[in-house]
Amino acid sequence: MAPVLILTVAKETNAKNAPNYTYQYDTGQSVAHLTFQAMHEELFVHQMSGFDKAKARKLFSLVNDYKPLTVFAIGYIDNYHKLTQSLQKMELSERKRNDFNEFVFEEKFGNKS
Ligand SMILES: Cc1cc2nc3c(=O)[nH]c(=O)nc-3n(C[C@H](O)[C@H](O)[C@H](O)COP(=O)(O)O)c2cc1C
Repeated sequence: MAPVLILTVAKETNAKNAPNYTYQYDTGQSVAHLTFQAMHEELFVHQMSGFDKAKARKLFSLVNDYKPLTVFAIGYIDNYHKLTQSLQKMELSERKRNDFNEFVFEEKFGNKS
């Protein structure tokens, strides 16, 4: 089991109290960079959006314009045999990635590159 669970929290407004349109992007980037650094140090990160946001807000006393976005677990990889049967199946299943053509376009949105 991962020893550390981290809640990512993003501020929806900037220093001038105006909306910060990139707050989710910024937070995602920071977690992405943390993930690469963790892997460099042989640690693994598992990101999750399936958690109770209201509960997290209450538990950590978050104020209004701070929004809980994700939770990620961080730890060393362990033997998959310790997982339940269904999690073992997920862990060992072949990963399917979207084809670049589905999200890389040129000149006009939807024009396959
Ligand atoms: C923003 C975000 C939210 C995610 N939410 C969940 C989640 O709630 N539960 C979960 O099991 N996996 C979630 N995932 C997927 C896992 O973190 C992971 O990317 C996926 O299991 C593939 O892992 P792999 O590297 O083993 O292929 C989420 C991923 C991202 C990027």
